[in-house]
Amino acid sequence: MDGTEHGIGQPQMREELSPEQLLRVIFEYTAKIANERSVDRVLMLMADMGREMIAADRCTVWLVDRKRNELWTKVAHGVDELRIPLGSGLVGHAVATGEQIFIDDAYNNAEYEEALATGARLTDRMTGYRTKAIMVIPFRNNEGEITGCYQAINKMTPAGVFSAKDMEILTLAASYSGKSLESAMLTQEIEETQKEIIMTMGEIGEMRSKETGNHVKRVAEYSYLIARGYGMSEDEAELLKLASPMHDIGKVAIPDEVLNKPGKLTDEQYELMKSHTVIGYNLLNKSNRRILKAAAIVAHEHHEKWNGEGYPRGIRGEEIHIYGRITAIADVFDALGSDRVYKKAWELDRIINLFKEERGRHFDPRLVDVMIEVLPEMLKIRDKYADLA
Ligand code: C2E
Ligand code: SIN
Ligand code: SIN
Ligand code: SIN
Ligand code: FE
Ligand code: FE
Repeated sequence: MDGTEHGIGQPQMREELSPEQLLRVIFEYTAKIANERSVDRVLMLMADMGREMIAADRCTVWLVDRKRNELWTKVAHGVDELRIPLGSGLVGHAVATGEQIFIDDAYNNAEYEEALATGARLTDRMTGYRTKAIMVIPFRNNEGEITGCYQAINKMTPAGVFSAKDMEILTLAASYSGKSLESAMLTQEIEETQKEIIMTMGEIGEMRSKETGNHVKRVAEYSYLIARGYGMSEDEAELLKLASPMHDIGKVAIPDEVLNKPGKLTDEQYELMKSHTVIGYNLLNKSNRRILKAAAIVAHEHHEKWNGEGYPRGIRGEEIHIYGRITAIADVFDALGSDRVYKKAWELDRIINLFKEERGRHFDPRLVDVMIEVLPEMLKIRDKYADLA
């Protein structure tokens, strides 16, 4: 093998980890993995952990997708998932049979000749990489079903081949992976279901008030943009994006003749209308789920004003939760730009003027500044989720 021929840069020679270094790697990664709720990121952390533990050049964690009969993985820096048919290649074989595979030289191995010729060696021809040593270890979930495998390629120590000890170490990582991935997938599934329920709830609220379902989508996206522009973390901004569509859920309890009244509301009707904040809060605050807790705050506080003249409680300034202050801006921006039964949509200039006038009155002044900064992106969202006339 001539190192200069490698298409993907010079592979780094490494040393075998000492037991102490190995432990450190395990502690470091298991701590990260335990805190991670995204399956994609768990996959990548596990691959990195495996690669470091056994000084492999590459390590991939493949997962079985029974619905599509495929194996898939997420590669670092890669935008997309990688998918292969369930039966194909060495990884397919390992998953189908439950066998661990251990190859010293991919170009000189009779047992897996066909899988290598159509898998590793074919890929090498396309990428200029040279696969030598390969190890594949399937793993199982808590029910004992095979749910994926670890695949390690090329040992980067002078020995150049994987040892029995490497297999032992990767088997350990694999058994841990099977369990962590299962719980990450369950969490993700629960969160996906929650997201759907939440969007649907938000849309039900809007349907009653004859606003299109796109109102909640736009408010969600605007809230996210403002939250990020304000410096909120990706994780929390994402949470707000999921919660903000429910800001008006309490309107489900408002009678039609008030909710859809074409003209101006009487004082009494407006008082009734204001109760949608408390009604929404009471619907949502029963749950302990993170998203619903955030949604309860948003429902409760999206009509509070920075100067204390809002409702239902008349709280002011930073007494109003940041989620409420952000959604207030997103909601009014969208309400003003849309036709309602009681009013026509406003021109953008007029909307921006209102925000400048209400900066420090209705709205948190810092957040108005952020809104002006992210306005170009908000306008893209407005076009993307425009209401059909
Ligand atoms: P919405 O239509 O989603 O409006 C949300 C908020 O956007 C309003 O909260 C208000 O802050 C702002 N907004 C909307 N349209 C205008 C406008 O023409 N001028 C100004 N300056 N601000 C506007 P608000 O006022 O607390 O109202 C809460 C909800 O009560 C509204 O939600 C809507 O469902 C209802 N509502 C308010 N006024 C009327 C009305 O005159 N007639 C009817 N039928 N419903 C109304
Ligand atoms: C295969 O394993 O057969 C294809 C996937 C790859 O070579 O990376
Ligand atoms: C395989 O053929 O499944 C393993 C080697 C590779 O293609 O990366
Ligand atoms: C609420 O009172 O609206 C929820 C609690 C909070 O604001 O932190
Ligand atoms: Fe509202
Ligand atoms: Fe709204």
